[in-house]
Amino acid sequence: MRIRRSDERLVSIRMARCQTNWERGVMKKTYQIAVIPGDGTGPEVVAEGIKALTAVCRTSDVDVQFKTFDIGGDRYLREGVLVADDEIRQLKAMDAIFLGAIGHPEVRPGILEREILLRLRFDLDLYINLRPVALFEGVDTPLKGKGPGDIDFVVIRENSEGMYAGGGGFFKKGTPDEIAIQESVNTRKGVERCIRYAFDHCRKRDGKKRLTLCAKTNVLIYESDLWRRVFDEVAKGYPDISVNYQHVDALCMWMIKNPEQFDVIVTGNLFGDIITDIGAIIQGGLGIAAGGNINPEGTAMFEPIGGSAPKYAGLGQINPLVAICAAQMMLAHLGEKEAAKRLLAAIKQVVKEKIASLDAGKMGYSTSEVGDLVVGCLS
Ligand code: IPM
Ligand code: MN
Repeated sequence: MRIRRSDERLVSIRMARCQTNWERGVMKKTYQIAVIPGDGTGPEVVAEGIKALTAVCRTSDVDVQFKTFDIGGDRYLREGVLVADDEIRQLKAMDAIFLGAIGHPEVRPGILEREILLRLRFDLDLYINLRPVALFEGVDTPLKGKGPGDIDFVVIRENSEGMYAGGGGFFKKGTPDEIAIQESVNTRKGVERCIRYAFDHCRKRDGKKRLTLCAKTNVLIYESDLWRRVFDEVAKGYPDISVNYQHVDALCMWMIKNPEQFDVIVTGNLFGDIITDIGAIIQGGLGIAAGGNINPEGTAMFEPIGGSAPKYAGLGQINPLVAICAAQMMLAHLGEKEAAKRLLAAIKQVVKEKIASLDAGKMGYSTSEVGDLVVGCLS
């Protein structure tokens, strides 16, 4: 159990709770979860994620406590603050972070993304971006002839380097002679820790035990070369995992034509960003695609992959399942297998038997009713 000396109020609430449980003879393990509802529909979907988490924990031997952080576009417009250093310090001390959405129509694109989302990824060294791509029964995929058994893999995207971390600049900006340079940073350590995580994940996962490296060795003769060499070297320590390599462009085709070949895919930051959008759409879209930003030695942040959908904000029509999926991933990451399994089963049941569509406004239920359905399906 990690106790943060910095927040005495939370600690004392937790102690009180532990004590009550102790008196009842059930000592529950308690997790401190930071909640960043964020912008647009973020707060609405996060509320349902919290509802589901609370419900599943009520009947498990774990407990969750939430601490909300007011980070997002509204506060930026109001106070000019993006993320304060003290918030970074507090977030680092939490067991996990649950994020709704970041993105505001009145803030110029790029500011919130870079200064909030990417800052959290970098400052907390969340170097793994884990994005499962699974088609649940009852969900439509745009891929003709493919069903749930065919689409079930995980993309492990390096989340702290590559094009996202490189320097660059303009020269003679705005003139006909303009030059724009954008560099990609790939460190041996950064590549290796990501590839090792992918091998370990593949070993633990109940899948085909196949790891695919996605890069572009035929053109990116420096960065992809490093990825390939490290991949081949690390593979030697995992004889139980079969390995293969695909260029990113070919992999995009195969994800659509033969997604059943994939088990775990490991790739760099930008390629991972791109291929996981294909992943999201083939698993049914942004209403169901969640991801985790993970520091395996520290904290982790779970989020819906989609945006803040401002046009749906406050209407109670947005699908909260994606946030409930993010909450489910969080439980699994924290090692709460039993609770994670029960929550996943409830999500799958709702998708298969209860709602008409994953799309906002077409579910046949409101946002909070869908949250209630999940709670009602918990075994
Ligand atoms: C994602 C998003 C972000 C990214 C943006 C919002 C900065 O597209 O999480 O995939 O490019 O990583
Ligand atoms: Mn993206």
